[in-house]
Amino acid sequence: MAFLATFWLFTPKKHSLHVSDKIFTFASMRPIFLIGFMGSGKSTLGRALSRATGMQFIDLDLYIECRFHASVRDIFASQGEDAFRDIERRMLKEVCDFEDVIVACGGGTPCFFDNIDIMNRSGITVMLDASRPRLLQRLKLGRRKRPLIAAMTDEQLEQYISEALEIRMPYYSKASVTFMADRLDSADQINESVACISEILRLPATQ
Ligand code: S3P
Repeated sequence: MAFLATFWLFTPKKHSLHVSDKIFTFASMRPIFLIGFMGSGKSTLGRALSRATGMQFIDLDLYIECRFHASVRDIFASQGEDAFRDIERRMLKEVCDFEDVIVACGGGTPCFFDNIDIMNRSGITVMLDASRPRLLQRLKLGRRKRPLIAAMTDEQLEQYISEALEIRMPYYSKASVTFMADRLDSADQINESVACISEILRLPATQ
């Protein structure tokens, strides 16, 4: 099995990137998968990357909602989490076949079945890594549409983030690229992040 050397790239703008040399086999038409915990900025950064590159943006949760005519919250409530994970896997496999797309996965997508391996085989995976305080801050505001945390108090949410991250990090860390995603709070910060990721992935620019 080929040895995959890894190295760290530090940018001057407080972002750091961890890049596996798998990146250099990346053909520009293959999907880019943004993975990471709820609130790590996958949709925010995915939309901005799509605008900057002209690549199509797919939010996997929205894709599921359109295909199944039901919100993620309703699927969880009516069919349970196991059924949602089956649907999520099937829809992930569909988008793996698309070209020139940026896919924002759900926070749990890489952590079930062999989904992370499927993504790594089909395209390039980018893990958005945000600090626990930043995740807590974002998720306190964005709890309602997320069934796993909707009913939690702030204290329960803080504990859940710590415990779930422990379980999920081994899956997230199989991503080809790790990007520190604490700084996504303003248009400038988002633009900096887009520029940084576009450069390392050698993405096309629309202008
Ligand atoms: C989930 C994250 C959600 C959504 C579902 C389950 C998770 O997506 O897929 O509520 O298991 O972490 P976001 O990460 O976009 O919130």
